[in-house]
Amino acid sequence: MKRIKKISYISIVSAIICTIGCANTVLVSKTNNSTLATHFKGLFHLGAAINEEIILGNDQKSENIVTSEFNSITPENSLKWMFIHPKPNTFDFNTADRYVELGLKNDMYIVGHALVWHNQLADFMQNIDNAVEMQEYVTNHVNTVVSRYRGKIDAWDVVNEAFNEDGTLRKSVFFHNLGENYISDVFKLAEKADPEANLIYNDYNFYKQEKRAGILNMVKKLKSSGVKIDGVGVQAHWDLASPSLDQIEQIILDVHAAGVPVSFTELDISVLPNPWEMVGAEVTQNFSQFEGDSKMSPYPNQLPNKVQKQLAKRYHDIFQLFVKHSDKIERVTFWGVMDKHSWLNDWPIKGRTNYPLLFDRNYNPKLAYQSILEVETKQQN
Ligand code: XIL
Repeated sequence: MKRIKKISYISIVSAIICTIGCANTVLVSKTNNSTLATHFKGLFHLGAAINEEIILGNDQKSENIVTSEFNSITPENSLKWMFIHPKPNTFDFNTADRYVELGLKNDMYIVGHALVWHNQLADFMQNIDNAVEMQEYVTNHVNTVVSRYRGKIDAWDVVNEAFNEDGTLRKSVFFHNLGENYISDVFKLAEKADPEANLIYNDYNFYKQEKRAGILNMVKKLKSSGVKIDGVGVQAHWDLASPSLDQIEQIILDVHAAGVPVSFTELDISVLPNPWEMVGAEVTQNFSQFEGDSKMSPYPNQLPNKVQKQLAKRYHDIFQLFVKHSDKIERVTFWGVMDKHSWLNDWPIKGRTNYPLLFDRNYNPKLAYQSILEVETKQQN
């Protein structure tokens, strides 16, 4: 990304913020010309993950938000192995092609997510117990998918979630068949298929020291052995309190010290209870015993003002930190566009009402949106 240094003063924003007068609503009406992308232009890309409805043109309101507010996109599901390569010799590029077209048409920084991941993998991949077979499938997958979008997809999440919480390698089907060098091999394959693409390792829970150390050791090893790795993706499925700002800052500093830029690739902030103190984003976790429990979904109709403001402050603080370290950050991507479609309504408990994003269920910008636009972007030199 070309880094154009600029001074930008707090946007002149005409916002109507109803705090006390408007019963339980905090309304923000967007009448200024600043967008999220323009506000942070020259500092880092600002992205959103988009679902199939948006990609296929069935959700015009979300699409308008995406193309006006953001300058980068990530496919929430459509490029995952189970959809794009469902059978050994069958690829389905219909939705993926539309996704890339949308990004090209709007001149966006296009992300590919994700090439090698143990979840949302095709059925035929799940129980392979043969190194040669596995190598063939992985090679074919990476070659075919990356080559198809060579020069079009700007960055790939090459390997997703390959580490355990203690910093050891996850014993996934890839590890089981290919051994510990599979990560380095997949990066090499991706480079061969598109030498210009930015190649990213993506994971959650970077704030855990042991996990971060394990991942960053791998990054350093790859770099010192000449394997092309261009960045680390920190998923950033966070909540109102955790991780702390100090912990987030430490992630940025440590990734930078490992010699690559950091991207916050899947940012969302849950406002719902997490009594089991579960952290991270392992998508197969499911606390079905809490389904229908109103204590676990305390805001079924509306987010109270108090929490709305906490969310806004949390986003403000996080973006202030991002601006402070913008020389080390390449991209910040929200995991979704508006609250209603967020995966956090159904994970880790199905059927809750969560409010993790910047646009509400009526597609209107929330106070959190406003609070991010009010983050001062400073001159770097
Ligand atoms: C999630 C999607 O948002 C859901 O729609 C899907 O059902 C499960 O996956 N880490 C990742 C993302 O890397 O791909 C996951 O996305 C969220 C956790």
